[in-house]
Amino acid sequence: MTRAAITGLGTARGHKVVTNHDLAQTLDTSDEWIVERTGIHERRVGGSCLELGGQAAKIALKQAEIDATELDLIICSTCTPDQVFPAVSNRIQNELGASCGAFDLNAACSGFTYGVSLAQSQITAGMERVLVIGVDTLSRFTDWDDRSTAILFGDGAGAVVLEPAIRDDRGVLSTYMGSEGRFADLLICDFGDYIKMDGKEVFRQAVRVMVSASQRVLADAGLEASDVAAVIPHQANFRIIESAMKRLDIPLEKAATVLETTGNTSSASIPLAMDEAVSKGAINDGDVVLLVGFGAGMSVAAALLRWGQ
Ligand code: ACO
Repeated sequence: MTRAAITGLGTARGHKVVTNHDLAQTLDTSDEWIVERTGIHERRVGGSCLELGGQAAKIALKQAEIDATELDLIICSTCTPDQVFPAVSNRIQNELGASCGAFDLNAACSGFTYGVSLAQSQITAGMERVLVIGVDTLSRFTDWDDRSTAILFGDGAGAVVLEPAIRDDRGVLSTYMGSEGRFADLLICDFGDYIKMDGKEVFRQAVRVMVSASQRVLADAGLEASDVAAVIPHQANFRIIESAMKRLDIPLEKAATVLETTGNTSSASIPLAMDEAVSKGAINDGDVVLLVGFGAGMSVAAALLRWGQ
């Protein structure tokens, strides 16, 4: 089977830094509370999905050393598109000068990993170059007067180029896409309204689905938790990551994090954390890397890959 390998990675962050201290000026909260309960110190706010997603995509294409005209497909994961339609991916396609098919997918914070899974199947089916973008601008749907949500979210983007792996054992090993619609009301944003969330219950269910999705992709690839060199989890709350790692019996040091400076950027959080881990040298050729996301829906997705081409 042809496996998809990541050959280019790019990210972009919202324009303005908003620190916990900034939020404490207008909300009944404190830096200590936010850091202790979430791990977040600051977040970035501002920019459209087109702008942030386009920036990240250009960097990913450059790193992959391919021209946009060579792309076979653009998948853009977002739950906060700039417009109801056209899709963000259509506008990014135009911005890049690509001529391939393009569509958006909405699986909330699991969307980027859903995109990687779809890219893998398209590459197995014969495509050669797929661009997967994760971009969200949650700040536009955040009630900045609500301390239970305003402390969590930020804006950002990440993009990867996937191509057929050159070596047989590199690339995507297994994927899982899940949905538990009975939990849809735990985290909602209606038209014209702000994000509403049952934080405690989201926390509880998030840990459970992250663990089960991760165990599933490991079993499908015939690997053990001890084979994993790095976990790139959705960046919602450091304590969620901590609990999931403990239950998976994977040392916490193997978890990539970026939420300290980005907050929860939904679809962008996994590629942002991946970029941080790569630049720190925490992911190397041949490493088994686990991506695991969860979010509104309740959606969940995991992908296991062996790093390198
Ligand atoms: N500052 C100070 N105090 C606060 C704040 C705040 N920002 N927010 C809540 N509190 C208070 C509460 O009022 C409560 O006070 P009380 O004990 O007097 O009633 C106390 O702190 C504890 O509140 P909890 O809600 O129990 O705090 P918890 O430890 O659960 O942390 C949090 C809340 C951070 C929201 C946590 O539940 C969480 O991260 N949940 C998951 C959320 C999540 O991941 N959402 C995104 C999913 S991804 C997607 O699809 C977008």
